[in-house]
Amino acid sequence: MVDPGTFVEDAVEEIREAVGDANAVIALSGGVDSSVAATLAYEAIGDSLTAVYVDTGLMRKGETEGIEETFAFMESLRVVEAQDRFLDALAGVTDPEEKRHAIGEQFIREFETVAREVGAEYLVQGTIYPDRIESEGNIKSHHNVGGLPEAVDFEGIVEPVRDLYKDEVRDVARELGLEEVISERMPFPGPGLAVRIVGEVTEEKLAVARDATHVVEDELEEFEPWQAFAAVLGKATGVKGDNRVHGWVVAVRSVESRDGMTARAQELPWEVLQRIQSRITGTNDDVARVVYDVTHKPPATIEYE
Ligand code: XMP
Repeated sequence: MVDPGTFVEDAVEEIREAVGDANAVIALSGGVDSSVAATLAYEAIGDSLTAVYVDTGLMRKGETEGIEETFAFMESLRVVEAQDRFLDALAGVTDPEEKRHAIGEQFIREFETVAREVGAEYLVQGTIYPDRIESEGNIKSHHNVGGLPEAVDFEGIVEPVRDLYKDEVRDVARELGLEEVISERMPFPGPGLAVRIVGEVTEEKLAVARDATHVVEDELEEFEPWQAFAAVLGKATGVKGDNRVHGWVVAVRSVESRDGMTARAQELPWEVLQRIQSRITGTNDDVARVVYDVTHKPPATIEYE
């Protein structure tokens, strides 16, 4: 890895040269990659940059509020409330790749609207090296690669962190003085909780995934996983009080990894797993059971869809 200080100087210069006097937009997700790209671009071109945060409704608990707070220094930050439109676009969609495409397309539409409004000629993206490799190798279509560029007529695309791995992006985030909640943040996929819900995305399943993920992140933070979350798999039978119920099956996943391309399921203490189980089933009457995913990548992927 290059020295983070030198990287920042070079990246700022590169963005400045690429964009010149034009306007640029960046899709800010709140993850470390797009946050670093946005901060570099803001340093380079200031208010000529519009950062667009689309609240897809597929985000974690408190995520939107956190982003508004962290990036309050960017006057040009736009928060787009698009929860209903994303749910509509996902209604009836069950195939994983179709789901990704529905999200990607809706995202483009939201983004296009803002890009046109501000007259942006350039697009800044927080694409990192593994995103490009996985998309090129067609392991899956990352919604932030390949979609946006054709959608809006941009003069050019600037990807300042395109050659970095995640740990290098974190070094740059620290160098830029970004808060720890950003620099040390677990990766969170662009399509959000939608890839942690097997089958159709509904408001009900989203609420289960969101609350359960909050419990998992809270309980497992001290184990420093690469990623830890909960997914909603389907329904199964359980007993609550005196009644048999048909409730949600929630999978808990916690993995160790360097770059997300391979991963190991994390060994966790039984008491911790039990505490997670009891918090999730205890706070949500519609969850019938909680399972722990012990599969490495490969053969599984980290996310469920
Ligand atoms: P998988 O599930 O393929 O995930 O093992 C590897 C890493 O990539 C993240 N991921 C995504 N990130 N858009 C993203 O920006 C996506 O469509 C996407 N799908 C997976 C995943 O969270 C993990 O860190």
